[in-house]
Formats: sequence, structure tokens, C-alpha cells
Amino acid sequence: MTKYLGVLTAGGDTPGLNAALRGIGKAAQSYGMEVIGFQDGFRGLMENRTIRLDETTVSGILTIGGTILGTSRDKPHKMPVGGQLMDMTESMVENYRKHHLDVLICLGGGGTQKSALRLKNKGLNVITLPKTIDNDVAKTDVTFGFDTALGVATEAIDRLHSTAHSHHRIVVVEIMGHNAGWLALGAGVAGGADVILIPEIPYTYEKVAESILARSRKGKRFSIVAVSEGAMTTDMFKKYTKAVEKAEKANKSEARAEAEAALATVEAERMGGTMRLAAQLEALTGLESRVTILGYLQRGGTPSAMDRLLATQLGTTTTDLAQAGTYGVMVAIHSNKAVPVALEDVAGKRRLVPADHPWLDSARRVGVSLGCD
Ligand code: F6P
Repeated sequence: MTKYLGVLTAGGDTPGLNAALRGIGKAAQSYGMEVIGFQDGFRGLMENRTIRLDETTVSGILTIGGTILGTSRDKPHKMPVGGQLMDMTESMVENYRKHHLDVLICLGGGGTQKSALRLKNKGLNVITLPKTIDNDVAKTDVTFGFDTALGVATEAIDRLHSTAHSHHRIVVVEIMGHNAGWLALGAGVAGGADVILIPEIPYTYEKVAESILARSRKGKRFSIVAVSEGAMTTDMFKKYTKAVEKAEKANKSEARAEAEAALATVEAERMGGTMRLAAQLEALTGLESRVTILGYLQRGGTPSAMDRLLATQLGTTTTDLAQAGTYGVMVAIHSNKAVPVALEDVAGKRRLVPADHPWLDSARRVGVSLGCD
């Protein structure tokens, strides 16, 4: 019989986390289960900092952004402790046992799925939920948080139109999405951006400038460029791919540390791409350019109705799986149904925008430039 559920939220915060916690907490009560929340992600599990998720704590949180449990990007096997990165997995296993947990539920994105699998391999029962505004968790149609961020980014593009139009400017709007372009692509199409640049499709400054000049020739004196924070020029893409390959191949500790440091430098250069893009476009088109970085606005605030629904569905289904003893799984959405998928099939993988995705086709057909041929 399943009696004690542990739960934590890890990785970047996402609208809908509280809705999911409420879904878990309320459905667990109907099964007579008790839910213990760990604070600040895996760190709270290591430090045994808990909050009981009972009738009172899960009440009134459906519409609230962030997570009442707090979160962190700490990983069980690389936990910053006293200025060093330590493998603290064993302390987490101990605390799991101390609370006599039947299962640990981890709400998170790609990194959290990997950490949860690590704990599963140490003998813990785990269930995960997919959350991230980036929408890039493997084996699920969608993650919660994405819909809210999509709405925020789309509204931003809507608003940027009138100022770009009035000043006859290029406005480059940077949208979150480190490795996956779902958010920039979705908001770009929904908001009517003229250029959409995503990490999956390397671009050139020349192609982007060409499309902006083509608009000018038609009398359109402004352009909106929606760019994922992780989008890369073809040159940057080559440099980045090489650095990633090197880091993956290097296994001797010294060579590895060197390759990882080199990758971090390339990564930092890559993430500064938006400012370089705007400067290059100004030089190539002669049009004034401005940058707007949406940043954490996209993650904050109240979840959309869609995300509340999704998070509630995932949260309540989690307790059914716990009751049935279905462990070692992520609760995914397949054709609107919440279904368990093996953690091994999710961890370490990413759902990127495929080259034949219908949103890309629609973008091209309404004249959007993707910055390449
Ligand atoms: O939640 C995913 C994400 O929004 C990425 O798009 C972004 O790169 C990252 O989080 C940044 O978050 P933080 O600064 O909290 O690590």
C-alpha cells in the first residue's frame, strides 16, 4: 500500500508548479496518502528541509506562479557543498528512508529527469512530471509552463510592433530557449514576427538582413526579429558543435576539465549572440536596431488556464500511478492523455523542433525568414 509520498520541484521555476503540487496533494488525500514536500529541489532532500503538503498548504495555490516549495538547479551528484561539488546522493537516499517514503515525485525539466533516474538507480521509487517553459522534455507532447510563456512572449511581440513601426526600427526580441526553439517559433508565428531564429536552424546575418531589406523595398519600414537565446550563426554553430564533441570525447580528467572549460567559453559567447545580431543588422541594413530581452518575465506570474489544466491532470494522475505502484516513470502527455513512460527513455534526451514541424512550414508560408536558404 502506498502511504508516504515525497515531492520536490527542481530546475528553473515554471508557471503551473503550484497547480501540480495542489493536484498531487488533493488527490493524495482522497487515497489517504501523506505528502511531504522537500524545499529547494534536491538540496532540500539532502538537507532534510520539509513542508507537509496537507489540506491547508495546498489550498489557494492554483493560480500562484513559482513554487511554494522553492527550487534550485542543484544536482544530487554535483552538489555545491563548502565550495566544492560533492556527490550527495547517499544523504538523499538516507532521508528518503528516514521518512519511510514509498515514492519520491520530482517535478522538473531535462536535468531533473536525469537526476531522478540517478536516484532510481540507487534503489528509490521515483515518478517525475515534465515542466519547463522550453517545452523540450523528451517523450511528452508538451510540458507545463510552456503555454503561459508562449502567451507572455506573444503579447510582447504584439506590443513591440507599434514601437518598431513608429520609429521605423528593427526590434530584435530575445526569447528563452537555450537549446530548443519552441517558444521563439511559437510566439514568433503567433505574434507575426518577420524573422524567427531558433537553435535548431543556424542562420547568417546576411540572410536575415536580406529579408529585412526586401521588406523595406515593399515599403515596410520596420521588422521584428524573434530570436531564441540559444540561436546560432552558422559559424557559431560549427564552433559550438566542435566544442561539444570535444567535451564529450575527453575522458582523462585533465583533458576533460580543459575541454569543459573551453565549452563554457564558447557557450558564453553563444549566449551573447542577440546583441551581436542587432549590431550586425544595423550595419548591414542601415536601419536603427533595438534589443528587448524578455528574460524571466516569461517564467514569472500566474499560469494560463491551459497550464493549470495540464498541471492538475499530471498531478492527479501521479497519485494514481503511486497507488498502483508504477514507479521509475515520467508522467507524459500523449494525445491529451496522461501516461507513464520509462525514465530511461526520457533522461539525457531532448525534444527539439524537427525540421519538418508544421509550425516551421506555416512560418515559411506566411513569409517569415528563418535566416537561412
Ligand atoms: O527554464 C528553462 C530556462 O528558462 C532556459 O530557457 C534558460 O536558459 C534558463 O532557464 C535560465 O534559467 P536560470 O537562469 O534560472 O538558470
